[in-house]
Amino acid sequence: MLSHLLHLEGIESVVLESRSRAYVRERVRAGVLEQGVVELMRETGIGDRVSRQGIRMRGIDFRFGGEPHLVEFSAASGGRYAMVWPQHELVEDLANARLAAGGEIVYESPVASLEGLEAKPVIHHGKNQLQCDFVAGCDGFHGICRGAIPRSVLKEHDHPFPFGWLGVLAEAPPAWPDITWGCHPGEFAMMSMRTPTMTRLYLQCPPDDDAANWSDDRIWSELHQRLELPDGTTLNEGRIVQKGVAAMRSYVAEPMRYGRLFLAGDAAHIVPPTGAKGLNSAMADVRVLARALAEHYKRGNDALLEQYSDTALRRMWLVERFATWLCTNVHRFPDTDAFTRRLQLAELQYMAGTETGRRSFAENFTGLPVEV
Ligand code: PHB
Repeated sequence: MLSHLLHLEGIESVVLESRSRAYVRERVRAGVLEQGVVELMRETGIGDRVSRQGIRMRGIDFRFGGEPHLVEFSAASGGRYAMVWPQHELVEDLANARLAAGGEIVYESPVASLEGLEAKPVIHHGKNQLQCDFVAGCDGFHGICRGAIPRSVLKEHDHPFPFGWLGVLAEAPPAWPDITWGCHPGEFAMMSMRTPTMTRLYLQCPPDDDAANWSDDRIWSELHQRLELPDGTTLNEGRIVQKGVAAMRSYVAEPMRYGRLFLAGDAAHIVPPTGAKGLNSAMADVRVLARALAEHYKRGNDALLEQYSDTALRRMWLVERFATWLCTNVHRFPDTDAFTRRLQLAELQYMAGTETGRRSFAENFTGLPVEV
């Protein structure tokens, strides 16, 4: 997205992607877009498919206390929305737009090292070197860019959770129209979707669990137990085509800049997946960065580049707050006592059962402004 935005400002960039195009195209990952991301896609000419094939979310159906509690975004927040549009489809929209515009994406090109970040950056990738004015470190939590910032400069905040999610992709139509969260006293589960025929499901599990411990029978039996209601409506089962365990953490590295290196997205911060904020936060970062780079090239003004880290982090800490709060209140912790469990339930009741709570949830879920 950064490369696409820069192109629209007349600024040249090269995208170095460590994986193959096929891998990026097929790997199912996040799926929810904030309203602002959908609008950005439309404004920048890559919104056709999301408009035609994306699924507009009505809200989220929280199940606790044996009942459904639907938080409807539009009603709660004056017309706001979020969309289900799979990340790999968004990446495909972007890759197609970049390639059609003559942009350069170098696939299967892992970066070996970075140098000269203070003044004249050089990126070593494969047998090649790339000299550039700026490096955007959009290479994820395990990428090389954050590690290129001296340890004396970087402050890390790390907050791991004592559980993870087993993510499951099934060939089955979603059983309910709304993304559904099972927040019963046991462990958490979620039914989401990727397309009208593909259900995306999550089950809370130990952080170091192995997907091999989860047979298809066990997956369905746990999902039925954790998600269903006494009225007997039931999940649709289907062939499981993908399953994997992800541990959870909240993590922020500050500052998001060192010399001519600017970090964006997971390279600088991680959220637990509960709030669907990973992709959306990366998008917010690169919008700020694209504008700052445009100011640099068009007007020779570096004020926005100087402020980039502060601007991006101000929003990001609000997103960390939301994602961490949600994650803390919908999961069962190994050591949850009865008092804490009642407080978790009270948090859910306030969120879904009061106008203020619904509004706050809907505003955060559908996306805070890029600059807060
Ligand atoms: C997902 O479909 O991956 C998803 C949906 C809603 C969330 C988190 C993840 O809150």
